[in-house]
Amino acid sequence: MPYTFPQSEALFNRAKRSIAAGVNSGIRKMEQPVPLYFARGAGARVWDVDGNEYIDFQLGQGALLYGHAPAGMAAALATQAHLGTHWAAQSELEIDVAERLQSMLPSAELVRFNNSATEVVSAAFRLARAHTGRPLILKFEGHYHGWADEGLVGFAPPVSAWSDEENLPRLHPSQGVIPEVLAQFIVCRWNDAAHLRRQVDAFRGKIAAIIFEPVLCNTCCIEPAAGFLSTIRELCDRDGMLMISDETITGFRFGAACAQGYFGFKPDLTVLGKAIGGGTPFAALTGTKAAMEKILTGEVVHAGTLNANPLCLAASKWCLDQILALGTTHPASLERLGHSLKRSLTELAVRHAIPLRPQGPGLIFHTVILKPGAPEGLVQDYRDYVRRHDAPRWAHLRRCLLEAGVRAIERGLWSVSLAHREEDIDEALARADRAFARHAATWSAPA
Ligand SMILES: Cc1ncc(COP(=O)(O)O)c(C=O)c1O
Repeated sequence: MPYTFPQSEALFNRAKRSIAAGVNSGIRKMEQPVPLYFARGAGARVWDVDGNEYIDFQLGQGALLYGHAPAGMAAALATQAHLGTHWAAQSELEIDVAERLQSMLPSAELVRFNNSATEVVSAAFRLARAHTGRPLILKFEGHYHGWADEGLVGFAPPVSAWSDEENLPRLHPSQGVIPEVLAQFIVCRWNDAAHLRRQVDAFRGKIAAIIFEPVLCNTCCIEPAAGFLSTIRELCDRDGMLMISDETITGFRFGAACAQGYFGFKPDLTVLGKAIGGGTPFAALTGTKAAMEKILTGEVVHAGTLNANPLCLAASKWCLDQILALGTTHPASLERLGHSLKRSLTELAVRHAIPLRPQGPGLIFHTVILKPGAPEGLVQDYRDYVRRHDAPRWAHLRRCLLEAGVRAIERGLWSVSLAHREEDIDEALARADRAFARHAATWSAPA
């Protein structure tokens, strides 16, 4: 029988009376049929307040690389909680974590901590502008860099704003943004080196930095085309711009040296979030000495009451030690598990005649469903995704999966964790088989 959610529904109705829109992050409203309320998690599994058990591939939006409630991290947090939860001052723990980052990432010559990647992105932009004395940031359509005024420019412009294929719109999805902020960005097409070169040339001498997700995880999990990351590096070196790698999702999932180690490039600044704290509110900015210089001199302000909070640091130290202990087996074994899930979902979809086309590097992937008549082949960029992906059909399939006990991120992203075992994958596939059958039997395209 498909899961039902009466307790979650009751809590959501209660929440709407005290919490604006009933949730604390806009995206959580997307969950259908109702935003779920959770009671506990363990390893690859999570239980909601109705007692429904899920094999989890949503994983706290990717933060739970070590699974739910790992015992070692719980112990580290408990120990620290008894020693002190907050000092707004120094502790040896912050050096322990910074030194681990230095040993893992060649580009991490210096480190600063914050509590969210959104904050770290703002710090990176500020540093880049101060470092270069230039105003503009170049980013790519469909890339997400947090919810602040700057990070969301050009994220997901509506089709009605697509008329110009050369000068992409610098729109912000939110009202209330300082209008001048939009003019400080140039938006380029991901994986189109010729377009990138033209735009960099057009604004030469005015661009402070190029920021990107090394794998475009936030839109369809689109890997960088061959040579694209080295083109970014080459242009940054040529014009004195900073290369900012936003590894909020890829960080530590892609190995101890993150996506920059996996693909082999060296950014000037790196944004780390999610897995660095294993689900605690922790994030880091790392960079070369040259790129971090203005923080050293005090000319760039970087602050925060809860920065380097000892609870987060205790969790982070435990998380980084897990990655270090895996040595060269990581990310290879996680990647194998993810690929096997991706492959089996594809086979299941064929059996149920669902045009599902999972794409991504296995460590994380996105389940595209092709619209009727849409051409085959890997999705290349944001517009290609919107043109070919059948979002309403995915929403229906995602609900069938949820009601069968398999939880992926609402918009179609799946992550595996170090706590997932082959048995979890097998069981998830057995559940997905039932979900796909139900979807195939009940889905009808909106008229
Ligand atoms: C690539 C990327 N950058 C930045 C952020 C912002 O992170 P946070 O929600 O911790 O502020 C996210 C969040 O999903 C992200 O995926």
